[in-house]
Amino acid sequence: MSTGGVPFLDLVTVHRELREELRSVFETALDTAGFVGGPAVQEFERDFAAFCESQFCVGMASGTDALRLALVAAGVQPGDTVVTAPLTFIATTEAISQAGARPDFVDIDERTYTMDPVKLHAYLETECILNPETGRVVSKRTGRPVTAVIPVHLYGQMADMDPILELATRYDLIVIEDACQAHGAEYFSSKENRWRKAGSMGRAAAFSFYPGKNLGACGEAGAVTTDDERLAQRCQMLRDHGQSRKYFHDIEGYNGRLDAIQAGVLGVKLRHLARWNAQRQDRARGYDELFADTEGTVILPHIPSWSRPVYHLYVVRVAERERLQKDLAAAGIATGIHYPIPLHLATAYKTLGFRPGDFPVAEQAASQVLSLPMFPGLSLEQQEQVVACVVESTKATGLRIQVPEPTGRYRP
Ligand SMILES: Cc1ncc(COP(=O)(O)O)c(C=O)c1O
Repeated sequence: MSTGGVPFLDLVTVHRELREELRSVFETALDTAGFVGGPAVQEFERDFAAFCESQFCVGMASGTDALRLALVAAGVQPGDTVVTAPLTFIATTEAISQAGARPDFVDIDERTYTMDPVKLHAYLETECILNPETGRVVSKRTGRPVTAVIPVHLYGQMADMDPILELATRYDLIVIEDACQAHGAEYFSSKENRWRKAGSMGRAAAFSFYPGKNLGACGEAGAVTTDDERLAQRCQMLRDHGQSRKYFHDIEGYNGRLDAIQAGVLGVKLRHLARWNAQRQDRARGYDELFADTEGTVILPHIPSWSRPVYHLYVVRVAERERLQKDLAAAGIATGIHYPIPLHLATAYKTLGFRPGDFPVAEQAASQVLSLPMFPGLSLEQQEQVVACVVESTKATGLRIQVPEPTGRYRP
């Protein structure tokens, strides 16, 4: 067995393999001086929309911009409340605040770590009241209308979208998917009796192409996908200073454009995404099998029958995370924690007034989740090394982890 370390992610090999194609993207940009907008952006937008089985794609400068501008384009107003899950990257709530709205939270499901529709239902029924004049639900806590919900497709697995969409219809909420970690993930919609792609189910969805994502740029980039033509047009204007034609500014917008070099890079890499995702799924199966006969001190990712995740991250749960992470680091195995502090307890949101215990499932998960090395080129030998080290470390503690039973499935 190799004793060399295992990186968390290998971003060098993939770019080495594509070097010639990527070089030609840079050369075209230099030869044409087409750095912003132009055919590379349009081609990528067309291809990524097709990949997501969505009608429109609007390239953006980042996933954060994509979320923020999707919220604004969908009609979220300053002062609104937008509800999301507390176990996510802060960009989800930054986008809500930067759209002028206030974030609110509902807890996650114990096993999938994504928004729990049962708790979304309870939130809308018990923590909101109906304003008879507007017909909208108003958060008792913020005193403001709840107008949108952002389910986060965390770690590459989609949230349970059927019941979330049903609740959104019933309570008149806009659904914006945070698909920043879920390029190519799928959800089986029982309602439609077919598999649906991440980015095709909400009013709009936001993707990040940060370099370490399943589809990553060589820099910053993002995109909005939607089937709503007006929303797509608004996103196009908002990302480009509110102009529909050069210097004809119909509204005030932002500088949130996708640049041509990144679009070219993404176009090259998109052709490999399905293969890379399949490799990630294969490596996840590999971990599942290697862990299968171990002593039950590690909780593996839970994949419901309605989910085909793309394993942006392979996240396990352990009782003594700090010790395990240290043991792995001592063996040269890099890991990550996504995320150590649920957002309702982040210092940045102190003024929102949440307390420990408000979202216990997210809080417990945040203290126990550990992301193991995961990337398409991860070798079996590396995986064996990781699993051997995890087994050795967790065996020493003998601690078994208890995860409470799920609260049940929300049935419309
Ligand atoms: C869940 C989630 N939302 C939003 C973002 C923001 O994307 P970006 O870093 O491209 O702005 C990320 C990226 O890390 C993310 O993981």
